[in-house]
This record gives sequence, C-alpha cells and structure tokens, in this order.
Amino acid sequence: MRYILGLESTCDDSGLGIFDKKENKIIWNKIYSQNTQHKKFGGVVPEIASREHFKAIPNLLEEIFNSKEIKISLEEIELLAVSSRPGLMGSLLVGNSYMQSLAWSWGKKILTVDHLEAHILSPLIEHTNLTFPYLCFLLSGGHTLAVIVEKIGSYHVLGTTEDDALGESFDKVAKLLGFEYPGGPIIEKLYECWEEQQKKEQLLPLPIPLKKRLDYNFSYSGLKTATKRLALQLGLKEKKNLISLKEFFQKNDKNKDKIILLAASFQKIAYLSLLWNYKKISKKYFFKNFAIVGGVANNIFIRKNFQSFCSKQGVNFFYPSAKYCTDNGAMIAYTAYCYLKNKNFPQINITSKSPLALISNVK
Ligand code: KG4
Ligand code: ZN
Repeated sequence: MRYILGLESTCDDSGLGIFDKKENKIIWNKIYSQNTQHKKFGGVVPEIASREHFKAIPNLLEEIFNSKEIKISLEEIELLAVSSRPGLMGSLLVGNSYMQSLAWSWGKKILTVDHLEAHILSPLIEHTNLTFPYLCFLLSGGHTLAVIVEKIGSYHVLGTTEDDALGESFDKVAKLLGFEYPGGPIIEKLYECWEEQQKKEQLLPLPIPLKKRLDYNFSYSGLKTATKRLALQLGLKEKKNLISLKEFFQKNDKNKDKIILLAASFQKIAYLSLLWNYKKISKKYFFKNFAIVGGVANNIFIRKNFQSFCSKQGVNFFYPSAKYCTDNGAMIAYTAYCYLKNKNFPQINITSKSPLALISNVK
C-alpha cells in the first residue's frame, strides 16, 4: 500500500492531498477556498465555514477518483489523515466526522494531525536540503509562533502571540481600510503601489510591538489599534461595504493615496516586528536554517526582505510555495507520512486548541 490521504478542514479552506510513498512525494493537492463566502464580512464566519466544508469535502474526494491525472485504487490507500486541532469547532467536527466515517467504511487506519505541526513541517515537502534543527516562524490567520524544530515531533516553542495573530492583523487592518477578506494579499499589493509611486510620501510612524521585551512573544492588537488611530487622524472613516482591490482602483476615492500610505506603513512594520524577534532569537540560539510558513509566508515583501537579510547572515532561508503556505491537505498527508515512518500514532484528539499553541514561551 502506498497512499496517504490527508484532509484539512480546521478553518475556512477544505483541502485534500495525497502523499505517494513509492514516489516519495505529494501527487495531489486540491483546495476549495471559501473566500467568496466570507469576503464581505471581513473575516471568517464559523457557521458558514462548517456548512461549506460539508458541501466541499465529498466533491474533493470525488475529484480524486474521477481524475485523469492520477489513478488510485482504494486498496492502495494505506492511511487516512485529518487535521483535528486547533481550529473552529464546527469545521473540525465536519472534517473529522467525515474522515472517521470513511475510515470505518473503507476499513482503513486513521491518524489525526496537529494543524500547526503540519504548517511547521510543510517546507520539508519541497526542500530536501532543509535539515534539522531549523528556526520556524509560523505566520497564519490564527497563529503566530516562533519554534525551533529539533526533529519530527520535537518542537521547542520560543514565543507565541499574546493577542491577535499576524494574518488576523493583516485582515483587520485591511477591513478598517475598507477591504474584503482576506486582507493580507491586498495590503501586500498596496505596498507595491506605494513603492512604485514616483513621489512617495514617507511611511507613517507605527510602533514595533513588544520592542523593549526580552522574551520572544509576538503581539499585534496594539499595532492594529495604532493603525486605526492613524486612519482617524488622516480623516479615513470605516466603511460599511467592503470592496476588492480591483474595485478600489476602479473607484475614484479621494483618500486613495492615504489608504495606500497607511497600508504600506503597516506592511513595513509587520515585517520589522518579525525581524526584531528573529534578531533577538539569533542572539541566543544558533541555527543555520530558517523557515517561514503559513498564509502570511506568501507575502512577497516579507520573503524578499528575510531572504536578503539571511543571506548576509549566512543563514539558509526557506518558505513553502504558495500552495503549501495557505491551508492545504498535502501538509496533513505529509505530516501523517512522517509519523507513519516512525511508526508513531498519536491518540485521536479533537480540540479547538493545539498543545503547541498552549505551551507558554520558554525563556
Ligand atoms: O495559513 P492560513 O491559510 O490559515 C490559517 O491557518 O489561519 O492563513 C490565512 C492568513 C489570512 O489571514 C491571510 O490574510 C493571510 O494568511 N495571507 C497573507 C497573504 N496571503 C495570505 N498575509 C500577508 N500577505 C499575503 N500575501
Ligand atoms: Zn493554517
């Protein structure tokens, strides 16, 4: 038997991925994104998310068996895997009930996977030159962690967010500027607009969170409030109807330049907050490899700047390609494969919190 089928359904993306043991690679990774359903609310609506998983999962599964790209038979599936923590309770229940019923009816073993662990291991899917130990920043919509990955199953959590996650703050700042969910890619584009301007105004002064602290935690709610205060000072009012980036450029908003300037200022500080923590960690811990993972690891500004900073420091910098950054089933299948290799099966444990996120920071 050679295939591991992984399902992701912790939040607003349903994803199915397949790891092929014989080929030693991911051979399938399809995601059904719910962005269209949530965009006008400026964030994920849990009840809508569960209902959408309920519709999407059977279709994703059917696609595999109807595919012309891959041919897999039921007999060749060795293991089912499902992300069971942390996440929205409704979304978790839909995905986990589905996979457990499937395991029962197909007579297969099932492994539950920690979603954060799957993100943390996701760069290993493509980067065979990424060796342990590595420092990993998990930057997603729900979590922000700094972790030393010692080996599979052994993680030294150095810091976590004390309030909002980094992706969440991108989404909230975009919303207060009048944009739809998800806000991260929009802010990234607005930064590019600012950079391309011929006569660009200086970026606005926003504070780097927890700058004076000696520990390695993150915090983003204060930064969001500071951005909101600047928005009010600039005369920007919160909008009821959220819009896309395309609509923003089509409309003739008299505040266009102010919105671009504020978004660009936030983007810069978001990166500097990560860099600040990275520098603190690198003073105490020695590592040759550094990876960023999760949805925010898609951010080109953050990638580019870390790439050039790390190359000056002689540190190898990694990030997964876009399809493995945002939530996906491939990383769940891959994590299950890592455990299968070690013949180590964690107990089934469905919870809205992750043991990884609960570990308080180690000083
Ligand atoms: O990892 P992910 O798909 O879901 C969670 O596990 O939370 O991350 C989603 C988050 C959203 O907050 C979204 O705004 C952010 O990732 N994101 C980005 C970018 N692409 C997605 N943030 C900044 N820049 C991007 N290009
Ligand atoms: Zn995630």
